[in-house]
Amino acid sequence: MGRSRSSVTHGAALMLLFITCRECTGFTVDPPEDLVIFDPGHLGHLEIRWSPPARLINKTECPKHYQLEYFSTYKGGWTAIRTPGRSYSAQFDLMKDIRVKVFTLLSGPCTNGTMVKSKSYTELVQKPLSTGVEGTRVKDFICVFHKMENMECKWGRSAKMPATSQQNLYFWHKQLEHAEECPEYIISGGVRIGCNFTGKVLPDFTDINFCINGSSAEGALKPTFISLQIQNHVKPGATEKLYLRTAPDTQLELHWECPVGSVPEHCLEWEVEHSQEGPDGKIASQQILTQQKSLTLPLIHDDERNCFRVRSQLHKYCVDKSYWSEWSRPNCYPEMKEVTPEPEWDMVRVYVYIAVAITAMLVLSLCLGTMIKVRSSRPEKKQDPLHTTLLVRNSVLRKAEA
Ligand SMILES: *[C@@H]1O[C@H](CO)[C@@H](O)[C@H](O)[C@H]1NC(C)=O
Ligand SMILES: *[C@@H]1O[C@H](CO)[C@@H](O)[C@H](O)[C@H]1NC(C)=O
Ligand SMILES: *[C@@H]1O[C@H](CO)[C@@H](O)[C@H](O)[C@H]1NC(C)=O
Ligand SMILES: *[C@@H]1O[C@H](CO)[C@@H](O)[C@H](O)[C@H]1NC(C)=O
Repeated sequence: MGRSRSSVTHGAALMLLFITCRECTGFTVDPPEDLVIFDPGHLGHLEIRWSPPARLINKTECPKHYQLEYFSTYKGGWTAIRTPGRSYSAQFDLMKDIRVKVFTLLSGPCTNGTMVKSKSYTELVQKPLSTGVEGTRVKDFICVFHKMENMECKWGRSAKMPATSQQNLYFWHKQLEHAEECPEYIISGGVRIGCNFTGKVLPDFTDINFCINGSSAEGALKPTFISLQIQNHVKPGATEKLYLRTAPDTQLELHWECPVGSVPEHCLEWEVEHSQEGPDGKIASQQILTQQKSLTLPLIHDDERNCFRVRSQLHKYCVDKSYWSEWSRPNCYPEMKEVTPEPEWDMVRVYVYIAVAITAMLVLSLCLGTMIKVRSSRPEKKQDPLHTTLLVRNSVLRKAEA
């Protein structure tokens, strides 16, 4: 602990190597020994350990440093660091090969004051564990940090997934000593399709490692490993309060309030969709990006209907990426006369009303049929059963719309 670590880019590492070699004075340094990769069960956060070369162990007067190079599967390239320590922890993808190389760097009286790097390195390549039934990794793993308050991760089942399989999600981050299991699984059709963190606090700007493994009648499932940072998975809530009014000099003024949730206001940017419906029914729409919570537009044609809806996301100054929120309900000028069903319209309720209406129609037509049969003996003014039925049905439907 307390050791200093310096991180250099690969290019800089090569330049250092070049300088070191130009100043080579005939000293030879052995590479480190006993290179091992230790897995503490942190789902990809591994510890690399090594020992100094045997010939240098007792040369305490000579400062020893090490240059560690590892292939970072997440960044897709080699990373080099220099450290006086004998271990280093880094994030790896456990589904891919792990490659590490370590050099010794010697300075002080042993090398006449210059820094000498070992010509060779010690290398370790570790293949991923081959356990698990082939083709049983989950796919389409996606995490959404709703309103920056609750995280939900979901996954899809691969075609080869045995029907009897049961999946588990484990997660780990730097504040946890051990990997923990999902606090509440999301179940659909009797199987686990995701994990609800139910408001459990996860740290941001640090890797959260996930593992989805499991078992089935055919054997263990192939584990899937994912690492992500939650601030890049935020989906703000939908804007609920959207106000629209006309200003005296024929302008439309639109303003709205922040959605509920914990997303800091200064991180939100907005997209306003403006659709104009002309008297001929033609709709033209445009999207406007803004950092403000208001918009003023000229009201050009009096006979046009202007509708607006708003959605938000986190902008690039706060996070690397973000999900768009859902759209707000539209607000129109002039306001809509008839009631149009909203997308969230409760379809079940509509079906119940329709079923009730149909039943009422059937019952009524049966009753009317019987009445007409009874009355047909007595000549009387004719009644149109279909007309009555339609009237009844219309009134039922109007009730449904109310
Ligand atoms: C280093 O010194 C210890 C005693 O201080 C000795 O037992 C050991 O053999 C030495 N190792 C080497 C490689 O010289
Ligand atoms: C060590 O460095 C000094 C000054 O740079 C030089 O005179 C001397 O020859 C060097 N010794 C060896 C063994 O290279
Ligand atoms: C997840 O948990 C939160 C809080 O307990 C709840 O509001 C939300 O509806 C849950 N989501 C799912 C998909 O079950
Ligand atoms: C899944 O992974 C966790 C964490 O590494 C481990 O404790 C558990 O035994 C594994 N389960 C299966 C079925 O492999």
